[in-house]
Order: sequence, then structure tokens, then C-alpha cells
Amino acid sequence: MIRRRSLRNYWGSSWHASEGSASFVSTTMTRSEFLTLMGDMHRQQVQILPRYTASGCLCAKVPPTLKQGLVREYLRKRAGSHTSPETDAALVEFQSESARPGMTWITGSDAEAALRSWLSAALATWCGLPRLDHTATYGVRTYKQGSRLTPHTDRYLTHAISAIIHIEKKLVTTDWPLEVLPHEASHVHQVFLTDDLDCLFYESATVPHGRLQPLEGEEYSNLFVHFSPPGWSSKAEKLMNQ
Ligand SMILES: [Fe+2]
Repeated sequence: MIRRRSLRNYWGSSWHASEGSASFVSTTMTRSEFLTLMGDMHRQQVQILPRYTASGCLCAKVPPTLKQGLVREYLRKRAGSHTSPETDAALVEFQSESARPGMTWITGSDAEAALRSWLSAALATWCGLPRLDHTATYGVRTYKQGSRLTPHTDRYLTHAISAIIHIEKKLVTTDWPLEVLPHEASHVHQVFLTDDLDCLFYESATVPHGRLQPLEGEEYSNLFVHFSPPGWSSKAEKLMNQ
């Protein structure tokens, strides 16, 4: 039995309560079932670290000119053989070495800087904070056929408020859901990032997320951008070690 629930959609600089275009699908998997798939530290983060929004996650759309720049930079780097197997892929389950995720670094490019600037303002607005500090940009990561992503929360010292941006997919035969556990939700929700709805805002330290179903398709590429409120690191460390 699956219920559908539409959430607000964030387009550029204005808010829209757009029913149907941005939806999270509630599944039958319960909160406790999802939490048991994660390690103790991840569960501790969910319980004790600060939250900034009601649900902890929101579908968004990257402004088209920014998105075009990101895709162009990604394809340029790939064409120049700047893609290599990802060494830090502990949370990605892949079937063989040939299916290890690929990493195409686009950090430091004009396209990445422009995205970072837009996200910094958009995420701060979403969270009701005056500003956010950028802490990391990771990717582009390209998942290969059969991959899964172990449920987790992100590294709490630096990753508090983040975005996942869908960059490209190749020969994907079945939409690949990202499972998330919104604050206070009794059940796991799925979100499907597409070219039209290509970005997820999420509170990365406190919203568990993963991909439980194997990728059915050749490739699926995402970029991850992370921020934290000023003073977050010491505050989070204190809370986690008290
Ligand atoms: Fe993550």
C-alpha cells in the first residue's frame, strides 16, 4: 500500500506550492526499519543534532542556465578522461570492481562556483538562517548498474544542510528512487530526481537517506554540495560527545 504526498517545490528565488510536480512517495517501510539499517553514530545524529525545517527535505529545481553549465563541465571533463574510480565509496554497494562508481571532479570550475552561490542563498532561505558556510562539493559521482547506497546520515562535523543534484543518466530503464526519512515521518519516503526536478535539499546530518533498490540502467550521475551554519562544527561535536 503506497500513499502519495506532495510537498512544496522551490524554483529559483520564489516558492511555489506546486501540487503534483514535486512529490515524495511514502512507502510501507517504517522509520524503525530504516534506522536499523544504519550504524549507531548515524542514529545518534538523528536523535540529538539540531533541525532547521519542519520536514528536513524539499524538492527543488536548479536554474536552467546553472544546470546547463554543470552538465557541460561534467561532459567536458569526461571527454577529457578526467573520470577515475571512486576510492572513497564505502557507502556504495556495487557488484564488481568494474561497477565501482566513477568520480569526475568539477570542483573549482566556474559552473560549480555559480551553483555554490545559488545554493548558499537558497538553502539559507529554506532553513531560515542568515547565512551558511560552504564545506564541501563532492562529485560528480557516477553510479553504475546494480549499485545501491547504504542508508546513512552524512558526516556531521561538516555536512549539516546539503543538496543532491542530478546531472545525467544513461540507459536507465526504471526510475531510481532515493529513500529519505523526513523528520517525524513514520515511514520512509521516496523521491525521484529527474531532469525536470533535479535537486533535493535535505538536512544531511539528521535526515537518513539511501538507495535501497539496485540501479537498473547503465549510469546515474549526481553532485553533492554541503554547507553548515556558522559555528556548527563545535556545537555538533559537543552534542555528539556529551
Ligand atoms: Fe549522504
